[in-house]
Parts: sequence; structure tokens; C-alpha cells
Amino acid sequence: MTAHRFAFSADAALLRELGERLVGQPHIALAELVKNAYDADAGRVAVAFGPDEIVVSDDGDGMTAREFGGFWMRIGSPHKQSIERTRLDRAPTGSKGIGRLAVQFLGTRLSIRTTSRETPDVQLRAEIEWSSAARSGTLTDTAVEVREEARQGTYAGDCTHGTEIVVSGLNQDWDEDALAALAQRIWQLQTPFRREDDAGFKVDLTHARRSAVEAFETQMRRNLDIWSARLRGRLLPRRSGDPAGFRRARLLLEFAGEDPIRHDYTMENCDLDAVDFEIRVFSLHRKQRYGIGVEDARRYLREHGGVHIYDAGFHLPYYGPDADWLRMEIDHSHRLARSELLPAELQVDRGLNNLPTLSRVYGVVNVDTSREWVVARNERRLRSDRYLQIQASRDRLVDNATYRSLRDIVRYAVDFYAVQQTMRTAQSVLSGGHDRPPRKVGFDRIGEILDAARDEMPAGVHRALSRQIRRAAAASDAEAARAAAEAERLGSLALTGLAALARERWVDEHRGELETLAERLRSSASVDPTEAADLLERLLDASGSASGRSTVPESATSATRRTRRRLVSVLKEASARTVALHPEVRFDYAAVGEDLRLPAGTAEEWSGLFHVLMLDACEEVGGSDRPTVAIRSGTEHGRAYVSILPSGYRNPGRRTVTDGVATGEAGVPHAGVAAIAARRLCCELARETGSGPGGTTLTWNDTGVAVGDRDRRDAVAHRPTSRAGAMPASS
Ligand SMILES: Nc1ncnc2c1ncn2[C@@H]1O[C@H](COP(=O)(O)OP(=O)(O)O)[C@@H](O)[C@H]1O
Ligand SMILES: [Mg+2]
Repeated sequence: MTAHRFAFSADAALLRELGERLVGQPHIALAELVKNAYDADAGRVAVAFGPDEIVVSDDGDGMTAREFGGFWMRIGSPHKQSIERTRLDRAPTGSKGIGRLAVQFLGTRLSIRTTSRETPDVQLRAEIEWSSAARSGTLTDTAVEVREEARQGTYAGDCTHGTEIVVSGLNQDWDEDALAALAQRIWQLQTPFRREDDAGFKVDLTHARRSAVEAFETQMRRNLDIWSARLRGRLLPRRSGDPAGFRRARLLLEFAGEDPIRHDYTMENCDLDAVDFEIRVFSLHRKQRYGIGVEDARRYLREHGGVHIYDAGFHLPYYGPDADWLRMEIDHSHRLARSELLPAELQVDRGLNNLPTLSRVYGVVNVDTSREWVVARNERRLRSDRYLQIQASRDRLVDNATYRSLRDIVRYAVDFYAVQQTMRTAQSVLSGGHDRPPRKVGFDRIGEILDAARDEMPAGVHRALSRQIRRAAAASDAEAARAAAEAERLGSLALTGLAALARERWVDEHRGELETLAERLRSSASVDPTEAADLLERLLDASGSASGRSTVPESATSATRRTRRRLVSVLKEASARTVALHPEVRFDYAAVGEDLRLPAGTAEEWSGLFHVLMLDACEEVGGSDRPTVAIRSGTEHGRAYVSILPSGYRNPGRRTVTDGVATGEAGVPHAGVAAIAARRLCCELARETGSGPGGTTLTWNDTGVAVGDRDRRDAVAHRPTSRAGAMPASS
């Protein structure tokens, strides 16, 4: 018997088989090259489309001759599997060692040039013709000539090391759709937002057609734009006269599509010099805008999310998707209901129910430990250890009192967000749930619980359940949207109806005068032309206002946008409509805060509501030669108010109009409908009733308010602090 010993060999056709079979589409093939640049810790990748070539150049690590021979030339090399994190703390995207073969799909030739970070003067260069490689038979016999020579030219961003791959003899035409698909494919590699000096990852595209570049860039930007809330905060500069360690912080909280809410708070015993941060909160349990896949976005946040700390622009590796340094995960899993940092007046029942988990946020906190050291030295704090320091390992900060105030500053902001989100949920439930269907909260919650238990169940079960939840959520969204549209229609109908009623009443009241005028004109009796013209003009005004024509013109989009409008501008609009019907009444809003903002609503909703309230007040004015409606505003205990007070009004005590039952109440013709409209706008309407004219007051929650709200500052600026020393403060 003869024994043989054979080694496996591979046919060169395997190259093609692997490259083409595994990567079905050109944009996926090209994305593989970009992903390799990411894995090589590149900061920039330039992708340039020429008439018959694509050049992908990166400023990454490059390859030495050994790496080129051992990794690039070795098909199926799994060496990346053992790398958990790259030098820049990236999780490698590759592992199977076949991604680069996909370029066969793009063109007939490939030329590669690479310079290792370690040897910036040298470059390796090789050319591969795929067809001849495949013809040559056995794969292991397919030799590629690699020249080692002096480096010629630079790489992306004018860097002295990196890798450049030129694919030529292109097989496809790269149109806008294909480039947008490429952007979609690689967006996960980009950090959601960057600072100017952030060593992030950026892909620059050059293409002869401008529209193609735009399609690519829009898609990249949109991917980063799907946050549902954004928190931006910073420590304000020290002010002379403040006690040692007393610092103010300013937070801007922005819910997508709305104006930012500003909130100032203070810290005591805070030895930090400078901090700023931005945290984005994502809501990923339903279909995302711009066709971004929910699973893509989730995976991205699982891998890259969390709140990261940058020290003078360098990412501290410890802080990332798994580091619960803000104790958000733990508080979430213990169902902590109340914030330990927020002052009492900012708390609401179960306010922290909406505390986000780490896989729902992406945040960056910027500090500078060298600067902190210098400031501490100048203030002779070095010996007491009271300054922000980095550990010897240089991957995290020393856990001292200063570090803990850093944590409190950031966590305060997250808690503030959670409470605001809880209030919005509660308010929209109260107001009929038009903004956010209550069930959505339930679905989001189920989704989160499911995610938390992800490791404890088979992947297939998790996938199936996730899919079911998404479906159910989508169905409930559709239903909620229908209900909201219905309510929208009824609400504006009611307000229009009220305005029409008012006009009718006006015509009724002036019917006598109008009839006399008509009579006189008919009988050619003498008519005072000014008086007649006046009367007719008022009639015209009245009909104009009833049909809404005399409202202050606004562009169509801004009129339908739900934003936090300034009370003063809404009052001006509404009084313009009302004066048309009651020219004898003077509106006095000298006592209205310039900067106070109403809860979010459209121009028509707000102006309609105030128009109706003003009409009521006009009907009630009395006890004065000069009928006046005075309007006052302010803030008390975290609630803002605006009162509409007809002259002759005495303050007989307040009563809340609770629902539509009060409609048609004597002397309060519109209160019921107005109360419904008010609740839809997250406000409460109160009527002061008694003998004589009554006042109407609208109140709403106004924690963290609009820029420059003087009343609020005065009310709370000097209250004692809670445990974290946090309290709203003047600015
Ligand atoms: N742009 C690049 N910079 C540095 N090394 C690269 C680059 N592209 C590819 N390589 C090397 O070639 C190997 C093979 O790449 P690839 O076929 O995409 O497989 P994988 O990424 O799964 O390892 C990589 O593991 C890496 O060592
Ligand atoms: Mg790869």
C-alpha cells in the first residue's frame, strides 16, 4: 500500500468567489475599504471618484512589509478577532480577513500603496490585475510583486503614513443613490458629533457631480441627527465675589424640533475650573427618520454609546458604552424614582422613570487635567488633592471629591432631562396624549427591559420579540396620529366657532346703529360720513377677524410649527384680532415679562386661545371710563402664569375651570372650550368668579425656562441648596 500526503491548495478562482459572493453590492464593497481604514485608526478617509477610478486614501497605521505579507496577502486571516480595542479605543469592524477582496467587484485593477506609521519614509506598492490572478490557477502560486521604495506623496489629510487604494477599470456607474447607500453603510463609524479638535473619524467624498457629494453628505449628517433630546451644558466662568467653591452651570435642553430650554444651576465645594458637555438621547424603539435602520442605530449605540470623557481632546478609554460612571444603569435597574441631585421644586412624582440607559445616549464631556493642575497650583490646592487628576494608567480620572463634582454636574443635567421627559409624558397624557401616545411609553419600556435581558435569551427570541414590539408600537402610533388629527380639527373648529360667535354678538349689538344708518341712507337724510365710515370699517374688521384674516401674517411653516412662543408676541397677535371687535378697549401689557415663553404650540392655537380669553374679558369690562384689559405675567414655585384682568375686576378668589361642563356658565361664555384648548397646550385655566368682572389665569409648568425670565430668577435665586448643592441660580 502506498500512502500519500496532500496539502490543501486553493484555486485562484476562490478569490473571485469569495469577493463577489460575500459582498453583493458595490456600495458594500467600497464600505469594506473605508472600514479597513477605521480599523487602522485613521482619522480621515478621502474617497475620490474619477472618470474611471476610485481612490480611497487614509491616514491610518499603514502596513510594514511583514504586515503586508502576513495580513493583506493572507486570505481569511483572523488576526483582528484577537484585537478587542485598537489604539484609539475602536472596536474593529473586520475579523474574517476577506473584506478587501470585495474590491474585485468594483473594478478590474487594484493598486495599493502603503506607508507604516513606524517607517514614514518608505512605501510599499503593488498592483493586482484580478483577471490574470484568477487565470494563474492555484491561489498560493499567484505572486504579487511588491516594491519597497522611498515614499512618494502623502496620504489623506497630507499625512506621512497611511494606505491608498486605487481601483480602476470600474464596473459600475456611481450615481447619487449609490453614494447615499455608501453613506448609510459607513455612518456607524462616525462619532455622532465631534468637536473641532476631536480625533474622530471623517470621510471626505470628492465626485465630479456636486449633487452626488451632497447626497452623500446629507445622508451622513442625517444619520447623526436622529436624537430625540440634546443636553448641552458648561460650567460658567467664576465670578468675583462668589464664595470659594461656589460655581454656576448652564444647561440647554433641547427636545427635537423645539426651542431649547435653558436652566441654570449651582454647585458648592466645586474645585473644577472648566467643563463642558453634550449628551444626546436617542429613542430607538420605532422606525427612525430618514430610513435609518433601528437595528443599525441600536447596534451603533451599544458599541459606541455611553458618556465619554475627553481630556484636552484625548478620549479616556475607560469612559464608554460600558462605564456606568454616572450611575445611570444602576439607578435605572433599581428603579430610582427621585433624583438625588435636583432641588425639590424641580422634582415630580416618579420623575426618574425616564432616566435613559447608557445604550440610549451618546455623550462627550470635555475636561483638561493639565489646566486643572495649573489652576490648583495657583490656588495652593495641590497638597489637599482637591483637583481633577488623571490616573497613572492615563485611562481614567482619580476618584476624589473633584471628580465627584464633575459627575454631579453631568448627572444633574441627565436627571433634569429625565424629569422634563416625565412631565411631558404626564402632560400629554393629561392633554389627551396628542404629542406622545401614552402607550409609547409602555412600548419603549418593554423594549428597554427586553434589551437588558438580551443575554439571557436566545438571539432569535430576542429578535422576534423586538420585531413584535416595533410592529405594535407602529400600529399604536398610527392610531394616535389619527386621534391627534381628529382632536386638532375639533380644537381649531371650537376656537373658530367662538370667534364667529363673538362677531355675531358684535353685529347684534350694533344692529340698531347699522339699521339707522341704512334707513338714513335710503331716505337721503343727512348722514355723518365719518361716523358711517367708522361703523362700516369696524364691521369689516370684525368679519375679517372672525375669519382669521387680521392675524399677524406668518410664514406657513412657522405658523404650523409647535414651538415655545414668546407670550408678548402671542398677546400682540391676539389683541390685534380682538381690538377689531372692541375698539373701545385698551390692552395693557406693560406688566408682561418680555422673555416669558408659553408651552409648545402652533401660532394659531395660541393666538386663538388668547383671542377668545380677551373677547371674554372685553365683554366684562366695567367700572371705568376707560375700559381696559390688563395682562400680567410671572412665575411662582416653578409655575408660570398669565392673568387677564378686565377693569373693574376685584379679586374674589380663584376657581379652576376643570372641564367642558362649565361651558355656557353665566358671564363665562367660553371658559369651558377655552379650558379644553388650554389643557391641550399643557396649561391650566382658572377663573376668578364672584360679583363683578372676573379675571382669568393661565398657568403652566416652567422649570428650566426661557432665556432671561426675570421673575423666576428673583423667586428662586437665593434658596438654600440640596445635597449636591444644586439649585437654579441667576446668571
Ligand atoms: N487601510 C488599511 N490600513 C492598514 N491595514 C489594512 C488596511 N486595509 C487592510 N489592511 C490589512 O489587511 C487585512 C485584511 O483586510 P480585510 O480583508 O478587510 O479583512 P479584515 O478587515 O476582516 O481583517 C486587515 O486585517 C489589515 O491587517
Ligand atoms: Mg476589513
